Amino acid sequence: MKRNDSSWQKVGGWYNKIVGEKGHYYHQKIILPNSLRLLQLRKGERLVDVGCGQGVLARSIPADIDYLGIDLAKSLIDVATKEDKNPHHHYLVADASKEIKLGMIDKVAVILSLQNIKKPFGVIKNCRSWLKSSGKILIVLNHPTFRIPKHADWMEKDGRQWRIIDHYMQPLEIPIESSPFDKKNNQISLSFHYPLSFFAEILTDNGMVIETIEEWVSDKKSTGIKATMEDKVRAEIPLFMAIVAKIG
Ligand SMILES: C[S@@+](CC[C@H](N)C(=O)[O-])C[C@H]1O[C@@H](n2cnc3c(N)ncnc32)[C@H](O)[C@@H]1O
Repeated sequence: MKRNDSSWQKVGGWYNKIVGEKGHYYHQKIILPNSLRLLQLRKGERLVDVGCGQGVLARSIPADIDYLGIDLAKSLIDVATKEDKNPHHHYLVADASKEIKLGMIDKVAVILSLQNIKKPFGVIKNCRSWLKSSGKILIVLNHPTFRIPKHADWMEKDGRQWRIIDHYMQPLEIPIESSPFDKKNNQISLSFHYPLSFFAEILTDNGMVIETIEEWVSDKKSTGIKATMEDKVRAEIPLFMAIVAKIG
């Protein structure tokens, strides 16, 4: 079992299989439609996708958007570029937490990637330096309160289902195994936990103000004798959080 740095270079094949061409279930049902609604992309706008992975957002936006996908994992950028014939689309293999100089940008999307980047402050600093004065940044997170890998879980007690959490305030670096039952091919990617206030802090410290926060629940439905209980709690505990921030 090898340990990666924050790049998903070595777990690229595994992640590409999960996401596929149109995205995984939550991409398709929740993340992409809501992200597009919040981004409000207009013809000819310049969009940067930070931690773009294998390019699932690029395949979902209108064709006339000037798009740049940045990711540290060359293996994922290779997948993204292979199928992308749009002349308005470009890709860059780079560490988004280190200074990257770009021209002025209308919108930045950081979808499910900020919690995989070791130094998120540097990412927001970059975003702030790229954005036009009317620009916006959209950050989509695994909900930082309810989904802390290895530290949040479901529990059943007294005929009710509960979300239990044993860690929240302190930052954590959490190794995630790609194939825990296949030790030969198993690779590690890193997830970083921060409390919600941390995300507000790195935005405001970089001169951004939060415009909107949304929390998105799963639309899945259970079957079987526990369905009512499971559906009730699923509608109460959000999976994802979206933050839209603009220049203050
Ligand atoms: C969970 S994937 C999300 C990819 C894509 N946004 C999606 O929704 O499928 C997280 C991505 O962040 C990338 N990443 C991690 N550290 C990075 C860094 N320092 N700079 C740029 N990308 C990074 C990883 O390589 C990986 O592709």
